[in-house]
Amino acid sequence: MYWTERHIFACTGNHCNQKGAAKVINRLRFELMRKGLNTRVHMNTCGTIDLCDIGPNIVVYPDNIVLSNVEENDVPDIVAFLSGGDVPERLLLNADTPAERTRERFYATLQNQGNRASRESIEPLATNHGLDMGWIEEQLRRGFMSKKPDDASGDDVYAMTSKSLHRYRLG
Ligand code: FES
Repeated sequence: MYWTERHIFACTGNHCNQKGAAKVINRLRFELMRKGLNTRVHMNTCGTIDLCDIGPNIVVYPDNIVLSNVEENDVPDIVAFLSGGDVPERLLLNADTPAERTRERFYATLQNQGNRASRESIEPLATNHGLDMGWIEEQLRRGFMSKKPDDASGDDVYAMTSKSLHRYRLG
């Protein structure tokens, strides 16, 4: 830790790395040094920030914001922001971001129906919230949802995990 104006944590956990975090971080480090910003912005890597479905993620303090779904091409805009410009809105995530509220509403509905959905019902549930099976698959891949055979019928049952329960304060 150094007493810089900003401190950022860039996630290098498995999920973010699978989606290109290393490239983002290498470019960001290079650009911070190239612009002489490394004396004003201190960057550390971290293991996860539990937003694995929307990574690669970068947390910025004291702004207290998360930049999500960051790609290498976003680095110039992030550097411009760290130089005193506007935050890149397309990357901005907080609890009130519309996309995050949509995900929260989906999970609240699933919770209201007993945290169980069949293969037949999960897709319309997602569609009703403007989401799709691609998004469901990503939730499964990143540990926010589970899919297990029902003890009695053997049919797949979709449910939210402790990760999504905590994230959306539903547990
Ligand atoms: S691995 Fe980066 S948020 Fe989970």
